[in-house]
Amino acid sequence: MSMSEKIRTVIVDDVAETRESIRKALQFDPGIEVVGVARSAREGIDLVKRLDADVIIMDINMPDMDGITATRIIREQQPHIQVVILSVQGDASYMRRAMLAGARDYLVKPPPLDELLNAVKQAGNLARQERAKSAQLPPTSFVPGAVPVPAIASMALGKVVSVCSPKGGVGRTTVAVNLAVTLQNQDTRVVIVDGSLQFGDVAMFFNEQGKNSVLDLTPRVETLDQEVVESVAIRHAASGVSIISAPFRPEDAERVVPAQFSQLLKYLRRLYAYVIVDTPSYLTDVTLAVLDESDVIILLTTQDIPSLKNARLFLDLLRTLNIDLKKVVFALNRYDKRIAITPERISENLKQQVRAVIPLDERTVVPAVNRGVPFVLEARSQPAARGILELGEAVRSCLRELEAEQK
Ligand SMILES: Nc1ncnc2c1ncn2[C@@H]1O[C@H](COP(=O)(O)OP(=O)(O)O)[C@@H](O)[C@H]1O
Ligand SMILES: [Mg+2]
Repeated sequence: MSMSEKIRTVIVDDVAETRESIRKALQFDPGIEVVGVARSAREGIDLVKRLDADVIIMDINMPDMDGITATRIIREQQPHIQVVILSVQGDASYMRRAMLAGARDYLVKPPPLDELLNAVKQAGNLARQERAKSAQLPPTSFVPGAVPVPAIASMALGKVVSVCSPKGGVGRTTVAVNLAVTLQNQDTRVVIVDGSLQFGDVAMFFNEQGKNSVLDLTPRVETLDQEVVESVAIRHAASGVSIISAPFRPEDAERVVPAQFSQLLKYLRRLYAYVIVDTPSYLTDVTLAVLDESDVIILLTTQDIPSLKNARLFLDLLRTLNIDLKKVVFALNRYDKRIAITPERISENLKQQVRAVIPLDERTVVPAVNRGVPFVLEARSQPAARGILELGEAVRSCLRELEAEQK
């Protein structure tokens, strides 16, 4: 097969409008050809038997059979065919099931055009390699540079979660670090990016010190690949969390170009399930870029009047920036029940529900910070760790609510 040959693509979706809009979108790329469309899973299975397809774009919810089962059947029959799932379900369990069924990629509807085209092209390249392998021919159609990302990483785009507060010392870094550790597991990879560019201390909270910083990534953000990112990020052995440090000297902070920082976050979404961003208390163009890119904004406050006043200003600012306040997970840190300002009163006063409460827990938090060990690793049952778990749950449910709303 020559490189000039187009990627033969089949669309399987029960909604005519969706089939049509995908077909139109794929026309933007001269390297892709839609060779067939099917209105149901079974029709799709029949169709790909007859057509010599490379890539299938597959819906999940269809009346006769779900797209995940159809994927498994097709992959059993023709293992070189690559399936890109396109579904309104952004749920992790669906993604995992799709992956186990042999899907190559998973996009949430409606996908941005460039994402859809990239997914089809990557899948197409892989289909050709697989085909060439099974025909025991050298993979002549391999396109240099189009190295497939490992399946898990490319299943879906990760979520950007920023941790913010317009007041210093409320525990942003403490919360960001421990949240990252809580969210990380074997199939949920987490990266934490230190967006507190002048005096960032994220790496220190992990007792780590790398040779590289975010400044080794932002200038080359157009040409990043997984290997480069992994060589710059520090891998915290005890938790598995990847860390991207702030520049080492405060005066270097301004060398980080906001647009490049945004691009970096966009790229990291492809490699990690969660991109946690710690932020400074003052507003910079980089912080604004982070807010813009965030799926969830954790707004931290404490129980004192200045902190609440600033939280109010911050919420106003988000409104001015046209950022949907449903993205905000408002959380109370250093909660002390002896203080009369309760979470209920705060919710009422700021007209923003407090969704997680992390207790004041100096016995756990302070030594952990000083030793550079995230406390959720060692003191799981302590009040602070339980607060972080609650916060993790609040973030996940916020994401679920936003997703449900998009449907
Ligand atoms: N829930 C908590 N209980 C007790 N101390 C806390 C708690 N959260 C944070 N701290 C302490 O507050 C201080 C400031 O936290 P830090 O995360 O550096 O704040 P920020 O990043 O917002 O400036 C640290 O010394 C940390 O140990
Ligand atoms: Mg901090």
